[in-house]
Amino acid sequence: MSDAEFTVHTDATIGRIDPETHGHFSEHLGRCIYEGIWEADEADGEGVREDVKELLADLEIPVLRWPGGCFADDYHWEDGVGPKDERPRRRNLFWAQGPEELPEESNAFGTDEFLQFCEDVGTEPYLAANVGSGDPQEAANWVEYCNYDGDTELADRRRENGHDDPYEVKYWGLGNENWGCGGRMSPEQYAREYRRFATYVGTQSGLMLDHDLELIACGFEDHEWNRRFLEEVSKSAWGADFPLDHLTFHHYYGRTMSVAEADEDDFDSFLAGALEMDDHITRIAGAINAVATTRDIGVIIDEWGAWHTEAISENGLEQPGTALDALSAAVVLDVFNDHSDVVTMTNIAQTINVLQCLVETDAEEAWARPTYHVFDAYAPHKGNEGVRTTVDTPSRELEDDEELPLVGGSASTGDDDTFVTLTNRDCREDHTVTVSLEGTDPEAVDGQLLFGDQDPKAEVSKDNAAEFEPADLDADLNGGTVTVELPAASVATLSLS
Ligand code: AHR
Repeated sequence: MSDAEFTVHTDATIGRIDPETHGHFSEHLGRCIYEGIWEADEADGEGVREDVKELLADLEIPVLRWPGGCFADDYHWEDGVGPKDERPRRRNLFWAQGPEELPEESNAFGTDEFLQFCEDVGTEPYLAANVGSGDPQEAANWVEYCNYDGDTELADRRRENGHDDPYEVKYWGLGNENWGCGGRMSPEQYAREYRRFATYVGTQSGLMLDHDLELIACGFEDHEWNRRFLEEVSKSAWGADFPLDHLTFHHYYGRTMSVAEADEDDFDSFLAGALEMDDHITRIAGAINAVATTRDIGVIIDEWGAWHTEAISENGLEQPGTALDALSAAVVLDVFNDHSDVVTMTNIAQTINVLQCLVETDAEEAWARPTYHVFDAYAPHKGNEGVRTTVDTPSRELEDDEELPLVGGSASTGDDDTFVTLTNRDCREDHTVTVSLEGTDPEAVDGQLLFGDQDPKAEVSKDNAAEFEPADLDADLNGGTVTVELPAASVATLSLS
């Protein structure tokens, strides 16, 4: 007997799933950049890790945000360009690594190293400019250094530093968490700062550059803050045409959960926390709609993911990589698909070694974490048309009147097929799910299953990493309907043609 019915309304389109919904975020924090992307050793000198580059290139990551995070709020880009031995060593203000490890930044990995890394991996860079302690001139100069093809000192400096052609960096974040580590600003204060920065950065777009920039403002999970910011920022001499292409917020969940101590009730609350993404997107889109009637402002979630009590500043925000966290990523990616009309980019935190990373390293090797396999399995959604789905599922009552729907998913349509992703968020029991497609009659189905054999708390290590790879899923196609058995805490994908 089927205990969940999942219906795909293939004609009810939502919007194109922007490939950049599968984006990433890497900060100068713990072992993300140094030891994660960039390594130094006496024999080989220093450079990008080939193993990490390969894993990320294979995943075809569409966009990578850098250099922070809070680190960006105090970062001066000129420290990180030019001859290595002339680059100043600075303290890393926000990411102290405990009393024995001095929180210092060597600046060995700077703008040119990052942008070259993006070119090598085949990903679009997203640079976050310093609004917290920097000024608009510094941000405008960074754009000129990266992108200008003319005959100026800054463009020449880039050429001297080894890059003749402009990098054409499109995405520019003007600030990070400016309500917190980015200057503790009120929404009105940040709006006024944003307008100043956008004037000097945005004016270059289409004028001295032969390509457009997309400017990204920093918002908050408090949507009244966002509404006040947007109201103030729109009081610009540009009128309704103010330069603001995307508004962001961050959503971390599981902050009070210890992976080591968690039980099944904690798993439920954790997954309910991941699902709150849905409400946040609806509410920020509402705040945007209240002021941006004449132009589109996209929603970006440029930091998201599981953050557990194991991840503390002293250990560089490292936490175990589990099947449960990976399941939560699948839940969130499904939410993004359901909002493909407004979501223009998202960036999971953080790519390597830190928080809900996709890749983990030690001195010798790099390996995929379970979340890597979720991104890989969900890749066929990228660029597809998101379509509405409905689900009739059992749910579990949680504390505080919360409810966890135990089965969920999303769907999209491509040239000739429909791609469906499903999650069983029930960490206690298996569920049988019947999937029907309204509006098409599929003749073939291919299925994959993730984490079918794993305990939700199963932790990845380099020795067991292969155990988290996807397996084939038995999917019965009967009169246009597919039935699958989803083990507790698992993720499934179905390609129907
Ligand atoms: O990702 C870790 C930190 O979380 C970032 O630096 C900051 O923006 C957020 O608070």
